[in-house]
Amino acid sequence: MHDFGALRSLHLARFQAEPAIFVAPGRVNLIGEHTDYAEGFVMPVAIDFATLAGISPRSDGKIVLYSENYGDEKTFDAEALPEKASKHWSDYPLGVVVTLAREGHAIPGFSLSLWGDVPLGSGLSSSAAVEVATALAVTSLLEISYPGPLLARLCQRAENEFVGASCGIMDQFISANGAEDNALLLDCRDLSYTLAPIPPEVALVIANTMVSHSVAGGEYTSRRAEVEEACAVIARHRPEVRFLRDATVRDLEQWGQEMSPNALKRARHVITENLRTVAAAAALIHHDLKELGRLMAEAHRSYSQDFEASCLEADAMVALAQDLPGLIGARLTGGGFGGCTINLVEREHAAEFAEALGARYATEIGIVPQIHICHASGGARRLA
Ligand code: GLA
Repeated sequence: MHDFGALRSLHLARFQAEPAIFVAPGRVNLIGEHTDYAEGFVMPVAIDFATLAGISPRSDGKIVLYSENYGDEKTFDAEALPEKASKHWSDYPLGVVVTLAREGHAIPGFSLSLWGDVPLGSGLSSSAAVEVATALAVTSLLEISYPGPLLARLCQRAENEFVGASCGIMDQFISANGAEDNALLLDCRDLSYTLAPIPPEVALVIANTMVSHSVAGGEYTSRRAEVEEACAVIARHRPEVRFLRDATVRDLEQWGQEMSPNALKRARHVITENLRTVAAAAALIHHDLKELGRLMAEAHRSYSQDFEASCLEADAMVALAQDLPGLIGARLTGGGFGGCTINLVEREHAAEFAEALGARYATEIGIVPQIHICHASGGARRLA
């Protein structure tokens, strides 16, 4: 968990300067997958795995980035920032700095230390946590303040334009704007959101399939292209449809045969997922946990069968949870093709649920999974 004192000591020892320290959480998405870039709805929760960033000014015009996780340091010249990413961990914090420079801010020299415990490649948005922690640290050094939604946009731009991953806004948004004990029903069209409180008797059990996930990977990008292909077909008939957010199941019935079979299936997932996400928020707000669980099960089926973004291991993790005592709902969370499942579980059963699911998965798949009982945490903030 977040060790403020440890980050401060390592920054002091390495850079001989007192750091200002910021934290930005990872996230788990309860429902609403691959809907954000279609200007639809998502319902993520910030979790208590996070990145810490410590920053202090330098007078030599250098930008020194240090990652405690990688045990590695990279130095750049503040006056001559790279134009391109280099497929290195430093692309994520550097991308934020470069994007701030592209937004017209003069960037001074500084030292930045990063440490995080968001499991990497597990679909819990470790990249967004690094970006948002860096953005808060650097904007504070510049004595400027970006409101949460704009901070999220800045970080998404860094990832889209500098890192080269075509992600939507969900991960950066929830990391910047999460609210303790709540999920956010986020409208990715105008970034307005409604809080959906997580009842105290519901635990978030995150089960890592240990199959690595990446947004920078080809499958994420090709799914997004298929979603856009389907949207373009509908827009030929209904020009007011700019994103699948504006489309209906009826549109697919009418014009689906003009799409490739894959584009049709991907679009069916996105259009129905938007409906499910709004319904799931209402169910959570009205404490209808049975309906919430039903919607999560339907969402997993759609993600696995229509969007084809699951994998054998994630399908097994969801199936193996079904008859365990206390389960409310289970589905694969995040960008897909591996990573974690989210299980909403009655709190009194959470510990035995986690143990039983881990044992079943190990027997069935032959891999010991990591299972975490997480808390819905607040969004990014300054710690000191
Ligand atoms: C990744 C992306 C998000 C979103 C999800 C899928 O986490 O970064 O923008 O598209 O996948 O819902």
